[in-house]
Formats: sequence, C-alpha cells, structure tokens
Amino acid sequence: MTVRVRDLDVELGGRPVLSAVSLTVPAGSWTAVIGPNGTGKSTLLRAVLGLVPSRGGVTVAGADLGALKPRERARIVAYAPQSPSLPAGMTVFDYTLLGRSPYIPHLGREGARDRAVAADVLGRLDLAGLAGRPLEHLSGGERQRVVLARALAQQTSVLLLDEPTTSLDIGHQQQVLELVDQLRLADGLTVVTTIHDLTLAGQYADDLVLLSGGRVAAAGPPAGVLTRAAVAEHFGARVRVEPGPDGRPVLSPERP
Ligand SMILES: Nc1ncnc2c1ncn2[C@@H]1O[C@H](COP(=O)(O)OP(=O)(O)OP(=O)(O)O)[C@@H](O)[C@H]1O
Ligand SMILES: [Mg+2]
Repeated sequence: MTVRVRDLDVELGGRPVLSAVSLTVPAGSWTAVIGPNGTGKSTLLRAVLGLVPSRGGVTVAGADLGALKPRERARIVAYAPQSPSLPAGMTVFDYTLLGRSPYIPHLGREGARDRAVAADVLGRLDLAGLAGRPLEHLSGGERQRVVLARALAQQTSVLLLDEPTTSLDIGHQQQVLELVDQLRLADGLTVVTTIHDLTLAGQYADDLVLLSGGRVAAAGPPAGVLTRAAVAEHFGARVRVEPGPDGRPVLSPERP
C-alpha cells in the first residue's frame, strides 16, 4: 500500500512543527525519516496515523487513515511509538496478543491462530523466553522489542516504526531490521521508520527523507542524501562518508 503525504502542515502548541512536507512511499518499499532531535520525525508518523491534527493530504492506499475507526486503521497500519507507556501487570505474551485486537470480535476472545501469531513473532524477535515475564521486569531494549512484537502481530500492510532500534544492542538492531526487511520482501510490506543511526538507515531504506526545521531538506536514495556536507549542515556533526561494499554510504564520526 502506497503512503502519500502532500503539503503537510502540523502545528503543536501554537507553533509550526512541520511545514509543507511531501513524500511518497511506494507500496513494498522502505523509507527512513532522518533528522536532528525535535525536527518533527515522530510528529510526521503521528500525522500519517491521524493522531495529530494536520493540514494537507495524507493517504494510505488512497484512504485517509484519520477518518477510519481505530480498529479499521489497525488492520492497515501498525505503529510502534518511540516511547510507549506499557501497561503494568501484563505479561509479554498478553501484550503481544494486543496486536491481534483488531481481528478479535467485540466481547470475543483470541483464538488459536491469534496465539500462534503472537508466539511466532516473539520467537522471531528472540523473546520467546520472556513470554511469561511481566512488562515491568524488562530491560529497555527488551521493552522496545516487545513493542515491535505487538506491532508485527497486527500483520498489517504498512509498518510505521518510530526509532525501533534506539535502545538495542548492535546484534538486536540487525536482527530487528533484517526481520522487517524479510517481511517487506515476503509480504510486500510498506515500511516507514525514523532512525538516528544514519549508516543503518542507508543500509536498509530504499529512500531517505531528511527533515530539518520541520521541512524536507533532502530526499531520495541514501547516497544522495547522506553526504558529509548535509550531515554537517543539519546535524552539526563531522563525519567521513564512504561507499560500503554494496555502494551504500557508511558514516564514520570524526573528531574535530
Ligand atoms: N504536544 C506537543 N505540544 C507542543 N509541542 C510539541 C508537542 N509534541 C511535540 N512537540 C514539539 O514538536 C517538535 C517535534 O517533535 P518530534 O517528537 O516530532 O521530534 P523528533 O524529530 O521525533 O525528535 P527526536 O529525534 O528527539 O525523537 C519538538 O520541538 C517538540 O518539542
Ligand atoms: Mg522522535
């Protein structure tokens, strides 16, 4: 399903946060939204979901998600927020099962298939051993993977992941991004992630959108967006940028 954002403006607290943002994420492709802290990346994902008021056009497969009931929207788009609040007293398995809610009839209970999907996702994310653990007993990275598990259990066509790798060790970063990419290739998922690791962004995404000051400063394939000059201008960082073995840019921080 293609995600289209056209001329999006968002104001929060009376202040413009996003201005004239346009982007198209073709069905089955992966776009990473990058940019410095506070530039509006999370706000952009929330606007796509219709969770914050916006002006302009946002459509997923031609439909306005904000106009759908939450249950209908949750069958199309799964969203893993950057800092979710997790309910206390719930186990990892039951929390993952919440991802199946859009498919469970009102007043009904989950079925064997819902439990099988939840168990499969937990297994793929290395979380099977934690299935019975209460959420409040998890480490930061485990919590983050559980939030992703819930989103994947929704089995939607579109995934919006807000900083899915931030608290993860390098092995789990690769595991999560590879899993998302496998799902994208196997099921044609459309993926939009925000991500601070620019090398990882360039390794996995088809296109990058660099937001700066709430506007699109650059967009397109990674090699064109991740330049030394752009990273210096928009992040205030000194990096060396070299093509990796696959031609995608690899950034190395340099001390001034
Ligand atoms: N509810 C709100 N009311 C007022 N301002 C808000 C609100 N939510 C976010 N903002 C502001 O909007 C701007 C964009 O926030 P957003 O969370 O989208 O940034 P971000 O690019 O995701 O940053 P980060 O890299 O730190 O995650 C920030 O300046 C933030 O302080
Ligand atoms: Mg954010």
